Amino acid sequence: MESTVVIGDESTADHALKLARQGRILVWRGDYRNAVQLLAAMRRRVGKVRRGSSPADTFRRYRAAAARRARLLGQVQVDVGPGYALELPHAPDVAEACTLAFGPSTGRMPLTDIMGALGAHRWRVRGVHVPALGARIHPHYGVFAPTRHEYVDLVGSMPWPGPSKVFDVGTGTGVLAALLAQRGADDVVAVDIEPRAVECARANVDRLGLAASIRVGQRDLFPAGTADLIVCNPPWLPSAVSSPLDTAVYDPGSRMLRGFLRGVAGHLTADGEAWLIVSDLAERLGLRAPTRTLITGAGLVVRDRMDVRPRHRTRKDDPLAEYRAAEVTSLWRITR
Ligand SMILES: C[S@@+](CC[C@H](N)C(=O)[O-])C[C@H]1O[C@@H](n2cnc3c(N)ncnc32)[C@H](O)[C@@H]1O
Repeated sequence: MESTVVIGDESTADHALKLARQGRILVWRGDYRNAVQLLAAMRRRVGKVRRGSSPADTFRRYRAAAARRARLLGQVQVDVGPGYALELPHAPDVAEACTLAFGPSTGRMPLTDIMGALGAHRWRVRGVHVPALGARIHPHYGVFAPTRHEYVDLVGSMPWPGPSKVFDVGTGTGVLAALLAQRGADDVVAVDIEPRAVECARANVDRLGLAASIRVGQRDLFPAGTADLIVCNPPWLPSAVSSPLDTAVYDPGSRMLRGFLRGVAGHLTADGEAWLIVSDLAERLGLRAPTRTLITGAGLVVRDRMDVRPRHRTRKDDPLAEYRAAEVTSLWRITR
């Protein structure tokens, strides 16, 4: 069993890190705001990643550092009472955010989890304005948030094939399903493997008044049957996942992407088409074969492609900054 040590307002980041590296659980008993500052100082000390021998090696180091950082910071924990009562000076009310994210409280937990739930709750309440939709989407904790708009814009601008039935595979918040319904699809089946995403997509569909056109369900890859248009925006980077939150962003071994390409022909109607949205960052980093090779290798035909350069800013200390700056996101129009 890991041994615990009580820390508080007088603790320094260096000392806390030393204890965490020894495998101790650091139970915080000081002011909440000081704990947040302590975590920020610890994060700065463990945040640096050196470049590797290749882009793929740099990426591996970057992911390993993120996992190490999450583990170390996760060792700073707080005692939570029933209903997520936090008996710490200046502690915010975390009850609603944590109950929605984790269910009933279970005692001691990492402060980083509480902070993550609070941040996610702010997004959930406020929502994210999606220009192509002309509406707000409300992401739930752990569900991929459409904070980057360019990939949604691609789906909004591709010539509309007038489908009668549409699948949205890996729907997340339901943002693309909603856009497809807004573009004229009145029979959309939106699926996701993650129960959190299914619940979130349903809530967004209801909120947007689109429940008559969109059905949401839990599924690994495809719904049953065929569709005239199948849209999929899989996680763009192949990498192991170390937390449930990673599954929205990372696709271990490109399982979803490859599974989609392997199965899509069997779910398309005779004249149907698939829209695959994916960035080229993974191939720039040497993590997988080029998207076109994967598509044609699966026996599919590329009919068209629309590209966009992401507008996100890259952080200077990001070891992957030069690759992210050159990243291109594409909508691949694919047929059998
Ligand atoms: C990058 S997010 C895209 C979400 C949403 N479509 C969007 O564009 O904002 C990828 C989604 O695929 C889901 N996913 C991953 N593997 C899946 C699988 N095998 N079957 C269905 N959904 C999957 C994830 O849970 C996540 O919600």
